[in-house]
Amino acid sequence: GVSGGPNDELNGKHVVISAGGTREPLDPVRYLGNRSSGKQGYALAAAAARRGARVTLVSTASLPLPGGVDLVKVETALELEREMKALAGGADVIVMAAAVADFRPAQVSAAKIKKGFAAGDPDAPTVELVRNPDILAGLVEARGDSRTPYIVGFAAETGDEHGDVLTHARAKLERKKCDLLVANEVGDGVTFGQDTSTVHLMRPGQEPVTVGPADKNLIADTVWDAVGQDLS
Ligand code: CTP
Ligand code: CA
Repeated sequence: GVSGGPNDELNGKHVVISAGGTREPLDPVRYLGNRSSGKQGYALAAAAARRGARVTLVSTASLPLPGGVDLVKVETALELEREMKALAGGADVIVMAAAVADFRPAQVSAAKIKKGFAAGDPDAPTVELVRNPDILAGLVEARGDSRTPYIVGFAAETGDEHGDVLTHARAKLERKKCDLLVANEVGDGVTFGQDTSTVHLMRPGQEPVTVGPADKNLIADTVWDAVGQDLS
């Protein structure tokens, strides 16, 4: 865009985006994973680079890397946390688009787990899980009162007996204390792995802005428009 125009707020800024679903190992050949494709995070990275940002993508996914974007490859939530913390100090904007596993196996076997149980043991093995750190909450806390970097969270929500998508998203925004929460409507095969989705952009003290069903590239541009407004 023209210098000083509405799309220039990201120009020269360092943007750090996490993308994809974490993989939490059980043994050298198996992991617990999720259906996140990483497509939304990559679309955000491409759109930010088009707006002149320096973009670092911290990703579990193996999608084609958009032009002008640096890649840091990770697998687990703990690896993702380490890389995001290391990058946060030099970032102007952080986007947590990754689907971070809430739990990981408590034990990781160094050798492949075999199916042969002890003789006469009828029980299948069980997997004990432990909580992963909340990376987004940690980044918001570490920034303190400085309000820098600007932090964007994502939320994949379905409605349930406790409330609709917007009710859950509003509660999550209050819990996470990020500057912008992008709430995805999920379920029935929508969003995960698809090229389109419906999202609600939630900001503290503001009415939600609903986008879609729309292409993930268009959603990415709408997210950057909202971030640009808040940065200007
Ligand atoms: N997130 C994170 N670290 C985690 C879990 C989630 O940084 N251990 C981030 C995600 O990247 C996303 C946001 O938090 O930006 C919301 O993730 P979500 O799974 O919707 O929220 P949770 O707080 O995990 O709540 P729940 O899964 O119970 O709805
Ligand atoms: Ca979660």
